[in-house]
Amino acid sequence: MAKRGPTYTCQACGAVYHRWQGKCDACGTWSSLSEEAQAAPVPGGRVSSNSRARGRVFALETLRGETQDAPRIVAGIGELDRVTGGGFVPGSVLLIGGDPGIGKSTLLMQACAALANGGHRVVYVSGEESTGQVRLRAERMGLADAPVDLAAETNVEDIVATLNQGQRPALVVIDSIQTMWSGEVESAPGTVTQVRGSAQALIRYAKTSGACLILVGHVTKDGQIAGPRVVEHMVDAVLSFEGEGAHAFRVLRGQKNRFGATDEIGVFEMTGKGLSEVTNPSALFLAGRDQAAPGAAVFAGVEGTRPVLVEIQALVSPTSLGTPRRAVVGWENSRLAMVLAVLETHGGLRLGQHDVYLNVAGGLRVNEPAADLAVAASLISSLTGAILPAEGVYFGEIALSGAIRPVSVTAARLREAAKLGFEAALLPAGGADFGEGSGLGLRRFGHVAELVADIAARAPRRDVK
Ligand code: TYD
Ligand code: MG
Repeated sequence: MAKRGPTYTCQACGAVYHRWQGKCDACGTWSSLSEEAQAAPVPGGRVSSNSRARGRVFALETLRGETQDAPRIVAGIGELDRVTGGGFVPGSVLLIGGDPGIGKSTLLMQACAALANGGHRVVYVSGEESTGQVRLRAERMGLADAPVDLAAETNVEDIVATLNQGQRPALVVIDSIQTMWSGEVESAPGTVTQVRGSAQALIRYAKTSGACLILVGHVTKDGQIAGPRVVEHMVDAVLSFEGEGAHAFRVLRGQKNRFGATDEIGVFEMTGKGLSEVTNPSALFLAGRDQAAPGAAVFAGVEGTRPVLVEIQALVSPTSLGTPRRAVVGWENSRLAMVLAVLETHGGLRLGQHDVYLNVAGGLRVNEPAADLAVAASLISSLTGAILPAEGVYFGEIALSGAIRPVSVTAARLREAAKLGFEAALLPAGGADFGEGSGLGLRRFGHVAELVADIAARAPRRDVK
């Protein structure tokens, strides 16, 4: 039997301790433990010592049993449907995380309105804004006439009781899970125990009723979904809504999806009338490109199944500091360090006395190692002052040995580049031969030294070494 008395719950990961301590052993966060009453039994759960002792006998099934492939509920917002894997699955639960103000409520209101207009019953429960505020926003987006059922409530028992009345909704949005509280959990609203208890009650409702449930979760400074880390493994899909404050466009990215691929992205642009879909992101990311400046290379990337071209910008300038600065926006710091080390060791560049700044234009976050070649090209270009060919795209992975390795989905990258009017591709030597027939001039590199030589040959002056 568990000991009764106060317990201390880590507000970052949900680990429970019987004694207070400064640092959570489970996730390493400092000062994250707060006192909470003993975790109550799962609200609405049927676990009693009696029923557990006797247990109910259930029939086991085979894998080859009956499956019901419920039709997905398609929102009709292409960029959203792509990320969910082709529409919402009835009875599934989605968690959407993102910084405050990024546009989660806006996106979900648009999805609700689209489904409601399509004849589905949709319920939007706001725990943060009053119904008046939600209406005002809907009006601004021209969605006020959509037959969405709206409520401003925070108690999950009341919400579930209300949802169980009348026709089963196709979609229920809870904005946000951090504002929900359950009367059967003894902790204060906003604590991990409350968030977990509320989420459990709502998820049970979704699973039993067959309604699709979307939970909104806020994100902390370091990019974790605050509190509801504990919710992440209870849900079927986790999507994150990202964007740079200064840019109008937003990226919806799948992080976990039991019903589809996780690497798909949906691109939106925030306008005065809500979010509009961006069906050709490459054109958006390349807009306003300065083709006559050194340090810029176009990377032919792939996000999920979709090729996306982005400009990688580098600035390499002599430093006055003892330890030169390395700053990256939109790419991994450690990956940049690796490319710099390879360029120094195998490309003969001297970067130890230079600050290095790297930026993925437009605010996109690139996760692919295939960006190595474009990053290396932009760095060499900035250092040497050589302008890279404006009509060329770069992709390829760089190994620690300096070898340039082939990457996947070459054909799609080349097709996208050709579609956008590029004339050449600078890519790894070897690998499957998809390039011919793309209409692009192909220039292949097997080693970073070849890349350095190629770019240095275009330099106005020679100061590579
Ligand atoms: P919101 O959806 O409330 O963000 P979240 O729910 O993620 O906190 O979006 C708020 C921001 O979006 C706000 O800064 C204003 C902007 N916005 C527009 O630019 N146009 C619009 O039509 C709407 C509704 C919001
Ligand atoms: Mg909101």
